[in-house]
Amino acid sequence: MIGHIPTPGSTDGSRAWFERARRSLAGGISSSARLTSTGPRPYPLYIASGSGARIRDVDGNEYIDYLAGYGSAVLGHAPEALTKALSPVLHGGTMFGTCNTAEVELAELIVESVPCAELVRFANSGSEAVQGAVRAARGHTGRTKILKFEGHYHGWSDVLAVSNRPGADEAGPDDRPHPVPHSPGIPDGVVADVVVCPWNDPQALRAVLDAHRGEIAAAICEPIVANNACTMPVPGFLETLRQECTDRGIVLVFDEICTGFRTVPGGAQSLFGVVPDLATYSKALGGGLPIAAFAGRREVMESLADGRVKHGGTYNANPLCATAALETLRELGRPEVTGHIEATGRRIMETIRRAAHDRGIPCLVQGVGAMFQVVFTDRTAPTTRYRDLLDADTARYAAFRHELFERGIHTNAYGMACWFVSAAVTSDELAATCDAVERSFDALSR
Ligand SMILES: Cc1ncc(COP(=O)(O)O)c(C=O)c1O
Repeated sequence: MIGHIPTPGSTDGSRAWFERARRSLAGGISSSARLTSTGPRPYPLYIASGSGARIRDVDGNEYIDYLAGYGSAVLGHAPEALTKALSPVLHGGTMFGTCNTAEVELAELIVESVPCAELVRFANSGSEAVQGAVRAARGHTGRTKILKFEGHYHGWSDVLAVSNRPGADEAGPDDRPHPVPHSPGIPDGVVADVVVCPWNDPQALRAVLDAHRGEIAAAICEPIVANNACTMPVPGFLETLRQECTDRGIVLVFDEICTGFRTVPGGAQSLFGVVPDLATYSKALGGGLPIAAFAGRREVMESLADGRVKHGGTYNANPLCATAALETLRELGRPEVTGHIEATGRRIMETIRRAAHDRGIPCLVQGVGAMFQVVFTDRTAPTTRYRDLLDADTARYAAFRHELFERGIHTNAYGMACWFVSAAVTSDELAATCDAVERSFDALSR
């Protein structure tokens, strides 16, 4: 049973906290993505607590949560396995700045489960892990440029905050996109070192690689583009990318910050059977605590191992976060856990497809059970690249999201992002979610 179903006006406590926050926090928020998290209401939701698949806001409203900490609360909120394991760490000291045994066991587990991982390094956020992978690739190859795909997101730091979400007027030709900085404050020199390519287009990929022969240190991608409404790789594209990188001495990096550990323990590289040279992780890795990793082939990671390439971080793999990650990966290593996540998500995807179809509302539902998104569009084929999403009906997405919210279902506010399914969703919560989906489509079709 969903507890209190929120009604308009019942989030006044969140509104008051936001007004107060704006007096001391820049913009009232701690991350640019948080402002619109209540959909049409111009203030974010303030969450007081969570347990299992549910969260409770400061007004006492309860929601079934498919934002799930942007995918990090993969076991649900305050899962027993984590709270039990973390309590002794909290009492025994959380931060010594030296080595600890949990980080060793955690690295061993990653090496065991991830095909490309021979050596691992830990960091605190996805952006840091991406920075580490790029540094390792540059150090290893002695080259500077990085190839990324238009619309793929690799964090907020300068190094790759380019062409995340360019406007149609600034993005350049379809097959040779311009690199567009994501924000003022990113130096021209950084942007000039980023080569941008359309996703899922082998011909354009080869042309871009030819144009930068011998210059590219790494090619990085989101194998399932979580930040482009879960656009999937077309059959054969990852294999082509792998082959081209091998032939040209380019380090292939899979950004598995969204796909890692939540799809299957080996992540997207196991799912698709294509093994990169390096991969980056965060989100599901920590089960809700801030930890990240980059891992990969010994040959590339060796430059860090022998100290030539520098990587640091006061809080890297601190005992609290390393323990949380170790427990989370142990849980996710049980096939029934990822199996439950996948089956739950597939059922919601199917319900959305059928509900939309029955009411004559055109939309695509794409991704995998663990992470998926709904795109309101007249297109009948799945999106294959960023520009396919530019004509999506974002107002309808916002309306759908709002109807769900009013029925106690909390999802990502951004139509370009995705739903994340946690292992904690019970069969009653799944049924309540599917019912809310049906009723939200009723509301949309009125
Ligand atoms: C694919 C991907 N890479 C990198 C990042 C950056 O991670 P963080 O926000 O932890 O810095 C994100 C964050 O959403 C992401 O989705």
